[in-house]
Amino acid sequence: MNLRDQYYTPNEIALRMVSAVKGSDIHCVADFSAGDGSLLRAARIQWPKSSIIAIDVCTNNVKNLKRKEKKWQVFRQDFLNEPSEKKRREVERYRGAVSLVLLNPPFSCRGGAYQSVTFNETEVRCSTAFAFILKALQFLSSNGQLVAILPESCLYSDKDAQARILLHGLGKISIIGANGHKAFSGCTAHSVIILFQKGKKSGLNCEPWQNKHLHEPHQKNNEQVRIHRGKVQMHKFESSKSKKGLPFIHSTELQEAGIDIKRYRIKFNENGIRGPAVLLPRVCNPSQHKLIIYEKRSPLVLSDCIIALHCRNNAVANKLHKDMIDNWEHVRKEYTGTGARYITVNRIRKILVSMGYEVVEG
Ligand SMILES: C[S@@+](CC[C@H](N)C(=O)[O-])C[C@H]1O[C@@H](n2cnc3c(N)ncnc32)[C@H](O)[C@@H]1O
Repeated sequence: MNLRDQYYTPNEIALRMVSAVKGSDIHCVADFSAGDGSLLRAARIQWPKSSIIAIDVCTNNVKNLKRKEKKWQVFRQDFLNEPSEKKRREVERYRGAVSLVLLNPPFSCRGGAYQSVTFNETEVRCSTAFAFILKALQFLSSNGQLVAILPESCLYSDKDAQARILLHGLGKISIIGANGHKAFSGCTAHSVIILFQKGKKSGLNCEPWQNKHLHEPHQKNNEQVRIHRGKVQMHKFESSKSKKGLPFIHSTELQEAGIDIKRYRIKFNENGIRGPAVLLPRVCNPSQHKLIIYEKRSPLVLSDCIIALHCRNNAVANKLHKDMIDNWEHVRKEYTGTGARYITVNRIRKILVSMGYEVVEG
């Protein structure tokens, strides 16, 4: 990621976003992270009489926009945390007046940090991209629309759960399309385009992004599975030459032929996990060959990239493994991520429940 996520929207994606807008009653268009103005220019072609508001935090971007686009209202401002009240007031007058917001906001959350936004007097914690959406909503007119590029993770991450619920309560959300990881030059994030129509009812297929991959629950099979997430971070792993050290398992040790328990031994005395269990990588390019049954009782220590699903006996471990392979498409789709693909304990729990297992944690 570069300093302020200055990955500009290619023309064809900008046109796709503009053509997703419903109706023709667009008289004021805003982009609160306008960059070089590509989204706004696409809108201006479609609605030549519309007034245009552009905000960006980068002085150079603002200088260029002011030079090139004399008729636009252009402001240099930090849209999320503008320290100057005078600057904040300059744009306050557009509150409730914007018929269309177009956004390709910055995605980066340094160190996984949350943004905190006050929305309708509620304090919301969410990702940077979603914070832009929530702040932008306050400028929309009563039937305004918003079309935004978001990191794919905004559709399912726990981090944005509260923000998704709020947005859903205010109008209709549709997912217009997905952009592959090569869509933006220099940025490998997987992203999606959403359309939000304020005040519009959602219809039956209410929240398009919740549990989108989950099947109807199977018949209950009364088997318990205990989920255990490995804890040892690779950069803290210290190898032991002594035979007393326990085998240490990272995703590279989950191999089609089984688990390679000979490669690493761990130096310090970590509590190990014992079979029977199904082991799977937490972060990876998903492959069913990486779902491995471990039947032995001798302990293994897991890196924080491995999740173990403990079962009562080997027969249950084998059945669980088979169920996961039979439902592989379902499992695979739960590995998501804007950059590297990963799965969370929460999503594994949902998969297990949907396959009829009872989940206990520890
Ligand atoms: C991904 S680029 C998108 C630019 C443009 N909207 C487009 O689609 O091509 C994100 C832009 O957000 C601006 N930006 C980053 N943080 C910002 C903030 N806190 N407030 C306003 N603009 C910000 C960057 O300078 C950059 O131009």
